[in-house]
Amino acid sequence: MKEVYVNVRENIELVKGSIHKMVFVCPDLPEFLPGQFINLAVGNYEYGALLRRPISVFKHDAAAKTFEIVFEVKGKGTKFFSRLKGGFLPATLFLGNGFTIPAGTKKVALIGGGMGCPPLYSVIEKYKKEGIKFYTYLGFSSREKAVCLEDFAAVSDKLTIATDDGSIGEKDFITNVFMKDVAKIKPDLILSCGPVPMFRSLKALNLDIPTYISMEARMGCGIGACYVCACATISGNRRVCRDGTVFDIKEVLL
Ligand SMILES: Cc1cc2nc3c(=O)[nH]c(=O)nc-3n(C[C@H](O)[C@H](O)[C@H](O)COP(=O)(O)OP(=O)(O)OC[C@H]3O[C@@H](n4cnc5c(N)ncnc54)[C@H](O)[C@@H]3O)c2cc1C
Ligand code: FES
Repeated sequence: MKEVYVNVRENIELVKGSIHKMVFVCPDLPEFLPGQFINLAVGNYEYGALLRRPISVFKHDAAAKTFEIVFEVKGKGTKFFSRLKGGFLPATLFLGNGFTIPAGTKKVALIGGGMGCPPLYSVIEKYKKEGIKFYTYLGFSSREKAVCLEDFAAVSDKLTIATDDGSIGEKDFITNVFMKDVAKIKPDLILSCGPVPMFRSLKALNLDIPTYISMEARMGCGIGACYVCACATISGNRRVCRDGTVFDIKEVLL
């Protein structure tokens, strides 16, 4: 974890008025694990938004000293980020325990929902060179919000899409679509990132496959000091920012 200033190199509007991709340069780029997030300051605090905003990393390039995020405009902080054309922002990089894939794993199913999809790209980015096969299942509300598909198509062994309205891919929940394929794929591991209702559906499938989920929570400090981000687990409350964000699905009380 490191305190740095990140330089905005590009800010691309992927969906009008809603979803953006930002590319940052950081000469002092720390080590990164897939699934980790950054805590990004809303300017230099002159906008009355004191708390930093947690956003997951989409892509990370250690050699180029760059990384990318994809975010949806929700409120004050993300609106501010969406308007940036350059400049520097204070940030804490990189936070959370991230996803790890044990040695010997051959097939991984990635299951993403909405803005939880982009961070899964960083998993393939890190582990693809180890010869692991990635079966990627991404669920969105509609075609309009289905971002980063070309990126995933380029690196996944198979990419499957589902939307709530059927405007692209199957008209179903992505967990149902995955369930239809799971016996055929036989993944050794499931990694997932998305909203809690999706995790509940995933847990309800009751699969005998190790499954790890990246939880989201409202955050204060992002570094384990304030306990704002507590989530209930079978061994008591845990901090999403420090003990997670990745937890074994069996441990979290969803
Ligand atoms: C570990 C982590 C990783 C995240 N990664 C991403 C990402 O890659 N892309 C992305 O678009 N968003 C991500 N989020 C959510 C993002 O942090 C919030 O959308 C953002 O902080 C909202 O700030 P704001 O000032 O725009 O809105 P605010 O004015 O603070 O809030 C507006 C609305 O946004 C929603 N919101 C606020 N905080 C969160 C939160 N922590 N989780 C979910 N919804 C929230 C609430 O509905 C709230 O009413 C992540 C959150 C966490 C905890
Ligand atoms: S946000 Fe402060 S402990 Fe997690």
